Amino acid sequence: MNVQQLAKEQENYVIETRRYLHAHPEVGEHEVETTRFIVGELEKLGVPVETFEGITGCVATIQGGQPGKTVMLRADIDALPIQEEPGKSYCSLNPGVMHACGHDCHTAMLLGAARILWAHRQELKGTVKLIFQMAEEIGRKSEEYVKRGALEGVDAIFGMHVWPSMDVGTVNFEGGERMACSDRFTIQIKGELSHGSAPHLGKDAILAAAASVMALQSIPSRQNNPLNSLVVTVGMMNGGTKENILCDHVELVGTVRAFNREFRKSMPQRIQQVVEQVVAGYGCTAECDYYFGPSPLINDSEQLNRLAQGAAEKIMGEDSLVPCVKTLGAEDFSVYMEHIPGVYGYLGIRNREKGIECIAHHPGFKVDESVFWMGAGIYVQFAVDYLEENA
Ligand code: NI
Repeated sequence: MNVQQLAKEQENYVIETRRYLHAHPEVGEHEVETTRFIVGELEKLGVPVETFEGITGCVATIQGGQPGKTVMLRADIDALPIQEEPGKSYCSLNPGVMHACGHDCHTAMLLGAARILWAHRQELKGTVKLIFQMAEEIGRKSEEYVKRGALEGVDAIFGMHVWPSMDVGTVNFEGGERMACSDRFTIQIKGELSHGSAPHLGKDAILAAAASVMALQSIPSRQNNPLNSLVVTVGMMNGGTKENILCDHVELVGTVRAFNREFRKSMPQRIQQVVEQVVAGYGCTAECDYYFGPSPLINDSEQLNRLAQGAAEKIMGEDSLVPCVKTLGAEDFSVYMEHIPGVYGYLGIRNREKGIECIAHHPGFKVDESVFWMGAGIYVQFAVDYLEENA
């Protein structure tokens, strides 16, 4: 199967499909029309598609002509609550909602891949499943599909993201740490009310909270091995009612970004320990709550890394693979990788000559459309090669 050629033949389809999706964005968990559209495109081909009770998105199954393993290809489908900058002929028609992270691209490329895989299913040595996942921007909503059994019988999963800091024509599949976890902590600090002019008669939760915010930075700087990237950010600090009332309750909300799985597991205890001790010095008490969001995304399957790199080279050429530094952003693709082996990469979309260099999650986000056939091709080539090698 000459996947590169087949992918080029789908170029117009993928471009048109992506433009349609771009014009009709929906935010996470509300991708009703998007799901309807995807299901429609797949059913037009005759591909069996499964939807799930209570959630948007869907899973398509393409059974090959020969028995073998099952590989899943993943695209996310949700948009963001951003008002798009005008200018594109296919600009968002939904006010305040925009595909500003390129998930419309992922969806369109995977639909392009579906057409190729379906047409050539007799040649496949196993089964390819396509997951069109809702709500990537929300947290770890990918878990909803796991709970509903979508990974049952799946041996490996593949995903990628269009990447605005890489030139079009380049691609990155790299072993090791790629993205961090994205966890959330909430701390309730309790003191005692008093008149603001008589602080000695109360316990100042504001002062205790301020000290806690400072002390929390000792976790990355003193408890963590400096060779491990770790971020602890307090992004919200809410408390107080009036300038002359000593505040008795402050809520702190923050995020933890880490790659090291063991250290991450210990974060709830570390936060609790630091904050409890600090606020005790101010006569206050604290309750800490920790929510484990998407895990760190670590490409730790050598076989899958090699297959992904090989697939990218076959489609985009030998010089297309480039390094790309890891980021402390997060991606709920990692939730699938908690259950089955997976690999995740980045597809360059920047083209400075065409003025396409805007960052993601921005109202001016743009994508060089010449990438689309390549993305569709990599999806297909990875699936074909994985099934072939594991037959
Ligand atoms: Ni994204």
